[in-house]
Amino acid sequence: MTVHTGRHFLQIPGPTNIPDRVLRAMDMPTMDHRGPEFAEIGFAVLAALQRVFRTKQPVIIYPSSGTGAWEAAIVNTLLAGDKVLMAETGQFAVLWHGIADKFKLDVDFLAGDWRRGADLEQIEARLAADRQHQIKAVMIVHNETSTGCVTHPLEVRKAMDRVKHPALLMVDTISGLGSLEYEHDAWGIDVSVAGSQKGLMLPPGLGFNAVSEKALAVAKANPSMRSYWDWQEVIAINKAGTWPYTPAVNLLFGLKEAIAMLEEEGLDNVFARHKRHSAATRAAVKAWGLETQCQDPHAHSPALTGVVMPEGHDADNFRKVVLENFDMSLGTGLNKIKGKAFRIGHIGHFNDLMLMGTLSGIEMGLDLARVPYRSGGVLAAMEVLKGRDVVAMSKSTAAVA
Ligand SMILES: Cc1ncc(COP(=O)(O)O)c(C=O)c1O
Repeated sequence: MTVHTGRHFLQIPGPTNIPDRVLRAMDMPTMDHRGPEFAEIGFAVLAALQRVFRTKQPVIIYPSSGTGAWEAAIVNTLLAGDKVLMAETGQFAVLWHGIADKFKLDVDFLAGDWRRGADLEQIEARLAADRQHQIKAVMIVHNETSTGCVTHPLEVRKAMDRVKHPALLMVDTISGLGSLEYEHDAWGIDVSVAGSQKGLMLPPGLGFNAVSEKALAVAKANPSMRSYWDWQEVIAINKAGTWPYTPAVNLLFGLKEAIAMLEEEGLDNVFARHKRHSAATRAAVKAWGLETQCQDPHAHSPALTGVVMPEGHDADNFRKVVLENFDMSLGTGLNKIKGKAFRIGHIGHFNDLMLMGTLSGIEMGLDLARVPYRSGGVLAAMEVLKGRDVVAMSKSTAAVA
């Protein structure tokens, strides 16, 4: 077995690296989750999450993975037979569709090629054609973690408003929250679905729903069978700073610290940092002569970059070479792009030199795995990080000459 020294490079797009400060904040003795000390933490994290979602509305915290928060969004607002509109942006949209199927929703799943965000024109056309307003919800994935393509929720909201459709807008921002701009209230989102293990820099184990007044009213009138996921029950007991069941206390300590870190940096700076790192990553991919999985410049994810392998080269073999030689984990291609693409996570607790290490490992790995590429990706990324773009510069130099 190879012994690796130094820190493992975890460059998958979640779960992400946990800051030492957050690890230390979670390293606490067990606390009485019905005592006054706990209520202080409960109130603090509920208020902090409202600031991160940018909402004045309730945020529900579940001890669950993101999938639980998906299910919660469905069981609170929808009933078997309800019609919903979804878009096949990638594997996570496919999985959410799978849950909707299990709850016997009638899903209109707009087909997609996994290389761009949801097709807004099609969404608008479907809603415009639905004069009886049978579509109860539009459900989209904000940051499609399987591809690195973004669907901008505000654009979906605008399309819905243009045709005056009253469906609920539900957004999976599991890998968006804390790394991409997000405005639950201002963008008119009814149910936001998120999780702890991505931009929030925590271990997996917390799922979130932020809910609009309209979604709450729909939930109140909804006779669906539900218990654990029921929003009303959690919201009622949250008023005392606690939960109807044993909360994930130590993860909440971590959540308080993680949000403090994001706010010290400033959420807008956090978003700008992610964008800058994704621009540098794309510069590297382009210089290597490889293709990004996302083909729409308007949809490139600030949180991760999917990279397509040249024909005849297996992405998982390449990832294995990188792991064995440089102790770095890159994200695998999921489902129909398995073996055809790999993913670079530049999300969460991350900085310029971590990105340079990541890209160096990839460039050396391409060489060792005998993948055809051009060298110079690391240099191109460096120029972006230094504030200069070599390609743009060489063009302007040529123009002067
Ligand atoms: C966009 C998106 N949605 C849903 C999920 C599922 O979340 P979980 O694995 O926490 O259940 C993930 C997980 O990576 C995701 O990235």
